[in-house]
Amino acid sequence: MSRKPTLAVVGATGAVGSVMLDVISRRADVWGEIRLIASPRSAGRKLRVRGEEVTVQAISEEVFEGVDVAHFDLPDEVSAHWVPIAAAKGVIVVDKSGYFRMDPDVPLVVAEANPEAVRNRPKGIIANANCTTLALIPSLAALNRSFGLVSMSVASYQAASGAGQAGFDSLYDQLGAVAGKRDLGTVSGDVREAIGEGGDDTFGAPLALNVVPKVGGWRPDGWTSEELKVRNESRKILDLPDLKVASTCVRVPVATGHSQAVHATFSSPVSADAARKVLAEAPGVTVVDDPDNNVYPMPIDATGRDDTLVGRIRTSIDFDNSLEFFVVGDNLLKGAALNSAQTAELLLPELS
Ligand SMILES: NC(=O)c1ccc[n+]([C@@H]2O[C@H](COP(=O)([O-])OP(=O)(O)OC[C@H]3O[C@@H](n4cnc5c(N)ncnc54)[C@H](OP(=O)(O)O)[C@@H]3O)[C@@H](O)[C@H]2O)c1
Repeated sequence: MSRKPTLAVVGATGAVGSVMLDVISRRADVWGEIRLIASPRSAGRKLRVRGEEVTVQAISEEVFEGVDVAHFDLPDEVSAHWVPIAAAKGVIVVDKSGYFRMDPDVPLVVAEANPEAVRNRPKGIIANANCTTLALIPSLAALNRSFGLVSMSVASYQAASGAGQAGFDSLYDQLGAVAGKRDLGTVSGDVREAIGEGGDDTFGAPLALNVVPKVGGWRPDGWTSEELKVRNESRKILDLPDLKVASTCVRVPVATGHSQAVHATFSSPVSADAARKVLAEAPGVTVVDDPDNNVYPMPIDATGRDDTLVGRIRTSIDFDNSLEFFVVGDNLLKGAALNSAQTAELLLPELS
C-alpha cells in the first residue's frame, strides 16, 4: 500500500491554524503524520487534530524534514522568511499570507476556479488568496463562465476575525466595554471614551458600535492593501488581466464572516433568473435568496459553513448586462483553511 503523505500545519495555534485543524479533522483521512508547528512561545502546547493530541513544535529548519505538504498560516513577514526555507527542503507549501500571491511563479489557486494551476509551481509554493477575494470567487467564477465578467464594483463588510485572533479578542473586549451603556452614541466621542486607550490599536479606530472604512495598510493614492488585493487577486485567479475592479473595504463589528455587496457587468446579457440558475449549480455556492420571507445571506448564518452564500440577486436597472448581489463567506473557512485544504488535496494524485 502506498504511504500517506506527511502534512505540516505551520501557525497551528493562530485563528486560521485552529480552524485548519478542525477542517483537516472532518475531511477525508488522506494524510499520514500531521506535524503542528508555531513560534517557540507555543512549543510543547498540545492541540487536537483527527481526535488525537499532537504536541506543537517550534519552527526550525529541521522540523520540515520529511514533510510533503505544509500549510503556512503565519503573518506575512514570518512567511516571507520561512516559506523559501521549507520549499528548499522539497516541501510543497500552501501559503495563506499575502507575501507570495502576486509572484508570477506562484499559482493562486481556488478549487472552483483554477484547480489546474496547482501543477505549475516552479518555486514549490502555492498561494491561498485573501479572505475577501475568496468569498467572491466561487460565485464570480461560475458567472464568468456563463456570461463573461467585464467589471465589478465591490463594497465589503468584514469581520473582526479577519485580523486574526487579536482581532477577534479585541472586538469582544470592546463589546464588553460598551455593553449595557445605553446612553452611548448620543454625544460625539462617547464611544471612543468608553472603549478607552488602545481602542484604535487593532482596527485603526474603535469597532464596537462603529464601522471602520479601512482594512489593511495604506497604499498610494488612498487605497488600502485589502482593496488592491480584491482587484489584483481576482484578476489573477480568474485569468482576467483586464478585469475592471472598484473596491471599498470596511470592517464591521461582526465576529466571523465577510460580506460583500457586488455590482458586476458582463459581456453578454444577464438576468437575475439566469444568474440564479447558474449559481444554484455552482460548486462552493449556496443560493440564499427568498426576500419575501426575509431569507438572504448573513454572516451569522455563513459562519461554520463551507459554501459561500449568495442572495439579493437583482438585474441592474440602470446598467446593461449587469447584476447586483450580496455574498457572504466564512473568512476562516473558504476564506482561509478550507480553500487551502482543498488545494492540498489537489496534490494527492502526484504524492501517492
Ligand atoms: N484571519 C483571517 O480571516 C485570514 C484569512 C485569510 C488569510 N489569513 C492569513 O493567514 C495568516 C495567519 O493569520 P491568523 O489570522 O491565523 O493570525 P494569528 O491568529 O495572529 O496567528 C498567527 C500564527 O503565526 C504564528 N507565529 C507568529 N509569529 C511567528 C514566528 N516568528 N515564528 C513562528 N510562528 C509564528 C503564531 O504562533 P504563536 O501562537 O506561537 O505566536 C500563530 O500560530 C496571515 O498571513 C493572514 O493574513 C487570515
